Amino acid sequence: MTQQQSGSLATQTIRHKPLLRALKGEAVWPPPVWLMRQAGRYLPEFRAMREQADFLTRCMTPEIAVELTIQPIRRYGMDGAILFSDILILPWAMGQDLRFEEGRGPVMTPIRDEADLARLDEGRVMEAVSPVREALRRLRVELPAEITLLGFAGSPFTVACYMVEGGSSRDFAHIRAMMQQNPALFDKLMAMLTRSTAEMLCGQIEAGAEAVMLFDSWAGILPPEAFRRYVIEPTKQIVAHIRARYPDVPLIGFPRLGGVMVTEYAEKTGINTLALDTVADMAKVAEMVPPSVTLQGNLDPMILLNGGEALQEEARRIRDSLKGRPHVFNLGHGVIKTTPPEHVATLVETIRSV
Ligand code: CP3
Repeated sequence: MTQQQSGSLATQTIRHKPLLRALKGEAVWPPPVWLMRQAGRYLPEFRAMREQADFLTRCMTPEIAVELTIQPIRRYGMDGAILFSDILILPWAMGQDLRFEEGRGPVMTPIRDEADLARLDEGRVMEAVSPVREALRRLRVELPAEITLLGFAGSPFTVACYMVEGGSSRDFAHIRAMMQQNPALFDKLMAMLTRSTAEMLCGQIEAGAEAVMLFDSWAGILPPEAFRRYVIEPTKQIVAHIRARYPDVPLIGFPRLGGVMVTEYAEKTGINTLALDTVADMAKVAEMVPPSVTLQGNLDPMILLNGGEALQEEARRIRDSLKGRPHVFNLGHGVIKTTPPEHVATLVETIRSV
């Protein structure tokens, strides 16, 4: 299908897609809802599939990735389906090793010097992630028409954090050292990630993703100047690259823990939707960013875990505080794995009962 054809198909069906409309700047009421990490270990049906294959195999087998993407939709009917995959698929596709260890999370051989960087190969990415595009193509066929299909990637800075640290980190000592002591090497890594992230996201859109999200989970560890250089600037380049090819596809940015820098991020990067973490006062941020920017967020995942009256009250408070403004209801971070599944049902019902 040509881009022209898929564009006109999208306009025919967009009326029925509340999430896509909200991401494009329309104040839809009640706000559409989906949750970060809506596919995950809190779901018994996810845990059942988990025993069949390791994490990478699950991401790279279209049948499994499609099933895991659809599981939360089947149960709760969210407005958006986010592709089951991971932000670390990109470094893996470039040739960095990756495994997930119980209790430890991702483990990778760290990138620390020129020789490590030279072993990575951008040229392998598109071929390596072809099963991801196949999963998206199947999802577009299998998902009900009113559900919006979301693709995603990590932002270059957040992905670089994992690549340089060799996994999760408390203090990010190695990446901070590289930024200060070898900025030329760090810039090279960032440029490589910026190019391949933009390419990979275009591939996801071409395969059927109707909007894409950039997760910058560690944006908040940077001081303002570094935030401009390593968060705002690469995001702006990725947005420009995608927009030149797919001007109508909305882009969501999540500069987690970005504090007051999020307003500058929203203005300078060109993203359509600003996703906010739990600490952000959504109504205040709404006053500080252009009204055309959709806000996404930001219920505390802990409140979802604990449930009860407090969950309903807080969900309604956030929803109502943004009435009249383009808003997508979500959490401020991912669903916690010990969340009782019935709390998610309560949340979706609460948001929809007006
Ligand atoms: O449902 C969804 O949101 C879609 C799929 C998705 C996953 N990871 C699946 C996953 C998405 C969008 C991500 C993004 C991601 N991955 C981020 C950004 C968002 C955030 O949480 O800040 C980051 C930093 C990662 C890297 C990552 N992947 C870590 C640190 C871990 C280990 C921690 C954990 O939760 O186990 C993962 C593994 C991971 N990614 C799982 C899932 C469902 C758990 C794997 C399993 O054991 O089954």
